[in-house]
Amino acid sequence: MIATDKIAVLDFGGQYTQLIARRIREMSVYSEIFSCAQPLAPILAQGFKGIVLSGGPSSVYEDGAPLPEKRLFDAGVPVLGICYGMQAMGYLLGGHVVPADRREYGKAEVRLEGPPSALLRGVEPDANGCLTVWMSHGDTVLRPPKGFVALGATANCPVAAMADERRKLYAVQFHPEVVHTPQGKRIFDNFLEICGVGRTWSMAGFIDSTVDAIRRQVGERRVLCALSGGVDSSVVAMLVHQAVGDQLTCVFVDNGLLRKGEAHSVVHTFRDTFKINLRHVDATSRFLNVLTGVTDPEIKRKRIGAEFVAVFEDEARTLGDIPFLAQGTLYPDVIESVSFRGPSATIKTHHNVGGLPTRMQFTLVEPLRELFKDEVRQLGELLGLPPEIVWRQPFPGPGLAIRVLGEVTPDRLEILRDADAVVQEEVRHAGLEREVWQAFAVLLPIRTVGVMGDFRTYAHVIALRAVMSQDAMTADWARLPYDLLGRISSRIINEVAGVNRVVFDISSKPPSTIEWE
Ligand code: XMP
Repeated sequence: MIATDKIAVLDFGGQYTQLIARRIREMSVYSEIFSCAQPLAPILAQGFKGIVLSGGPSSVYEDGAPLPEKRLFDAGVPVLGICYGMQAMGYLLGGHVVPADRREYGKAEVRLEGPPSALLRGVEPDANGCLTVWMSHGDTVLRPPKGFVALGATANCPVAAMADERRKLYAVQFHPEVVHTPQGKRIFDNFLEICGVGRTWSMAGFIDSTVDAIRRQVGERRVLCALSGGVDSSVVAMLVHQAVGDQLTCVFVDNGLLRKGEAHSVVHTFRDTFKINLRHVDATSRFLNVLTGVTDPEIKRKRIGAEFVAVFEDEARTLGDIPFLAQGTLYPDVIESVSFRGPSATIKTHHNVGGLPTRMQFTLVEPLRELFKDEVRQLGELLGLPPEIVWRQPFPGPGLAIRVLGEVTPDRLEILRDADAVVQEEVRHAGLEREVWQAFAVLLPIRTVGVMGDFRTYAHVIALRAVMSQDAMTADWARLPYDLLGRISSRIINEVAGVNRVVFDISSKPPSTIEWE
């Protein structure tokens, strides 16, 4: 199913490695990430038409610094080294690489020089005669290796870019993949031209080849899919359904901890609109039972996770023999296990409640293994999923249970659900739904005094949480407009019985987390 016109990215542990692969895919060229520790021969044998060496935290002079195999540069494939990738190239090919006087970090201005290079075709200096780029490096190439020419310099860095046009080896000290390098896209575009790679990667093509691949894998047999209503499992269900129709059974475990109207919307969308064979398992009372008397967040999470597995197993048993399980594993999860940094450097969602025990013996169908999240959304749109699913904000597996602080009871869930519905509605009306990473209500385990009409009240407090983030690893509290905050507050206090106060959470992650529990 994978394109033949493709580019490999060797990962030296840089924080932007995934971004490099995404930029290339945005230009309709399939790209794949490999750990720099992987042997080169099998990678080259796959017929990649170009290779990008990523940035990374190391210095080429460090003990055990990761370096590509030197014969990469004689393989006849164009190579683009970025940041550490440039230093590694410079070092291996006999250039002069030194630790910089001081680390250069942030915006920098490159004075372009040297002969015209295919890498910089159409890249124009700004009004000040320089190219604005984003730098983040320690070591510097002082003198390019033999055969190379310098293409530019900054005040701090005498060789900010270099090229050996004959061997099609290129390198930049800055990061063309980040938005702070405004002409970075053009540089990638030029590199792809140099590689002579066809722009064949498209989501429509992906659907066709993936549907074929699923048909081949599954044959006449049946497939099970745990549908949560989130974008990943929804897209998986749509793809598998397109491939094998009624051989697919989706199980939607309704844990009673979803937001207002959500269970109904999942059932309506998949069963009524898309005619997918869907089991709606209303397990609300089972989940509430295991949560009775529980206030500790970790115990909540564990009990919910265990109950999910129990409910799913019970359901699967009633469905007869189903050999395949379709899952929404994405490319970042796959890369994490091959990444040079290894799985431990990334603090992963500690909490995937949907994980099923290995005793359930399924063969996995994972049609999204090659995709990034934004590609999955694109796919969802192409497959006709409604925008509220495609653009749904992340929602934790344990659901509202970790937003009802203290004991989870039907009454307290009801209060939170109503307050949260106001938040969702107002954020949507303000047009900020896609701009904020997440916005939601939290019910606090305290009461405060208020006055309504002539009466004293002693009622619940709702905290409003809204954050901006790229990947949930870090997050900043969202500067929501005061008017919007005011509307949310007065609507919650007026419309949700039992609430007399709303507060706004202004903490960032770290040190706070996005969820309160
Ligand atoms: P924290 O609270 O750790 O959350 O900053 C980071 C992101 O993960 C989501 N989250 C979860 N997602 N199962 C999930 O699938 C969970 O148990 C879970 N807990 C937190 C959270 O909403 C945020 O997007």
